[in-house]
Amino acid sequence: MANASRIPDDVIADIKARNDIVSVVEQYVNLNKRSGKNYFGLCPFHHEDTPSFSVSPSKQIFYCFGCHKGGDVLRFIMDIEHLSYLEALRLLAARAQIDLPTIDDAAYEKKRSQRQLLTEINLQTARYYYKNLLSPAGQPARDYLKQRGISAQTLQRFGLGYAGAGWDDLYQYLLKQSFTPAELAESGLFRQNKYARTIDLFRERLIFPIMSGVGRNRVIAFGGRVLDHSLPKYINSPETVLYVKGQHLYGLNLARQSKSHDLILVEGYMDCISLHQAGIDNAVAALGTALTEQQIRLLHQHTSDLIISFDADTAGQTATLRSLDLLEKEGLSVRVLKVPGSKDPDEYIRQNGAERFRALADQALPLLDYKFSVALSLAQKNGSTDLTIYQDQLCQILERINNSILFEIYLKKAAELLGISLDTIRAELQHRQREHRGGKSSELATKQAKPVNGRVAADGSGQDPQTESRVKVHMSQDEAYFLTILATEPDIWPDLALRPQPEDFLLAADRAQAPQPYAWLGEVLAQAAKGELGVSALLAPTSQFELNGTALNDVLTALMMRLPEQASRAQAKAEADRYYKQVRIDALSRTQHQLREQLRHSEKQQQPELEQKLRQDYQATQRQLYELRFNGRKA
Ligand code: UTP
Ligand code: MN
Repeated sequence: MANASRIPDDVIADIKARNDIVSVVEQYVNLNKRSGKNYFGLCPFHHEDTPSFSVSPSKQIFYCFGCHKGGDVLRFIMDIEHLSYLEALRLLAARAQIDLPTIDDAAYEKKRSQRQLLTEINLQTARYYYKNLLSPAGQPARDYLKQRGISAQTLQRFGLGYAGAGWDDLYQYLLKQSFTPAELAESGLFRQNKYARTIDLFRERLIFPIMSGVGRNRVIAFGGRVLDHSLPKYINSPETVLYVKGQHLYGLNLARQSKSHDLILVEGYMDCISLHQAGIDNAVAALGTALTEQQIRLLHQHTSDLIISFDADTAGQTATLRSLDLLEKEGLSVRVLKVPGSKDPDEYIRQNGAERFRALADQALPLLDYKFSVALSLAQKNGSTDLTIYQDQLCQILERINNSILFEIYLKKAAELLGISLDTIRAELQHRQREHRGGKSSELATKQAKPVNGRVAADGSGQDPQTESRVKVHMSQDEAYFLTILATEPDIWPDLALRPQPEDFLLAADRAQAPQPYAWLGEVLAQAAKGELGVSALLAPTSQFELNGTALNDVLTALMMRLPEQASRAQAKAEADRYYKQVRIDALSRTQHQLREQLRHSEKQQQPELEQKLRQDYQATQRQLYELRFNGRKA
């Protein structure tokens, strides 16, 4: 994008990804209302008494329905802190503890080229392991996969591989591919043995390439499983310039293409693979660690509805329940799917088939019901229920509910389950609260509204200081809608009915006087073609463009806020097609109009050759229009 800085796009994307808009905005605005998927609070940019300032966690944008300001997290910080683009980036980088290079920083350039290099090494490695799996040497691993019911097609889809028994087969192979020892040293694929010899990390293991779940499909790390019962069962790549533990989800590269609107979170590589093989293509795995905040955010970028299907032995553990709390706090609606009689989803699906699993998913318990059921099982001993434990467990759950409506509902449920009155359980909760109160301040107190930065709100005008210098642009409603769908559904591009081109847009006519907006559009379409366009990339320079007196940034954000939240990919594509068709029709009509003008002119000037050429163009345009309007039926 046309950045004022030389800070690379992927660093900017990283900074935005690690600054969740809800948590950033919450530092300035008390977002205490929910409506649908969005949060609401009092707008910090203009004075108001009822909240019309909204934040969408899934789209990572804010928009005020009162003063019509909107944008992404960077825009928010620029506006509220009165910072320049670079200053705001620095603030957010510091907040996410990202080291932002000074412009032209050599160290950063180095890291960037290291990333590129490792991407290449990983690609070669994945290919090597994959070929090895299919070669005669891979027989034991193929047998193992067969025994676990994994098909050849699944093997291929996940790019599985096999690391043989040799000490340094991969190392020697990569050296032959002309990578240097120094380059390979940072790849995480090798280690030194006690004789200081470099050997392969993965030996005699089935290999699972871990793909980046965002942007281009890149192999960022590997996991390797033994083929027998030896330990450790799995080893994984260490952290590298490409891979940071706890920031990725296995299978997301595939699950993000699923038509389902929800995601199913499982624990293991094999669970994820089994589910995909059974046609449940929205499964992702947490990669061993307890779910981290970054993973939750990643999940939230793709869905608001999460189904958790952990192994039977982990599901009840309080540690798991804690990480589930974190999910709800992030605004995800969570349901829990238990696999009865099996140790994990993989085993269940192999024993019972996909249909039974789907049925379980449909009946998955809302998180609070699930917690209640865990409370009961914790209280049960030798076939009878210990009411003291049961009551204590239920109270603990109730105490942690932040949403007052849910609290009332589950309070009633708890009273019924315990066979006591509502008053009794309320009294008990109050009593417990008094007991807890002491040293640590209650959560609620720290959640109170923080002072809103008053500088903008104070004069109440909400005037943007940049108004003077904005570039005026033209854009039709259809064009704007098309672009916002493209940014929120980045992977529909290959399936679009028409190839979008910048010349079709109204901006093309402005391009002589205003080259930047047209360049921006070109970038946007190019990024979309690569599957890399996102909301932020779309919005990047648009606050400097003005459409009918409003910053384009705000117009586009407003449209995005109104896009239906969970339109399926197919629906989104159809919508985009519909809008783009109109864009093309409008463009052709404009061309036709121009040609007609020129024709009239050439007739007057008596230029028969030019006239004939214009007539041909006119007819060609006419034909194209006809075909578009009548859906390919020949004129
Ligand atoms: P599981 O033991 O449930 O693995 O651990 P699994 O995928 O179901 O494997 P199978 O079915 O026994 O083959 C869950 C996840 O925890 C991580 C891996 O990511 C694994 O998929 N893990 C487990 C490790 O990283 N190291 C280990 O030694 C074990
Ligand atoms: Mn398993």
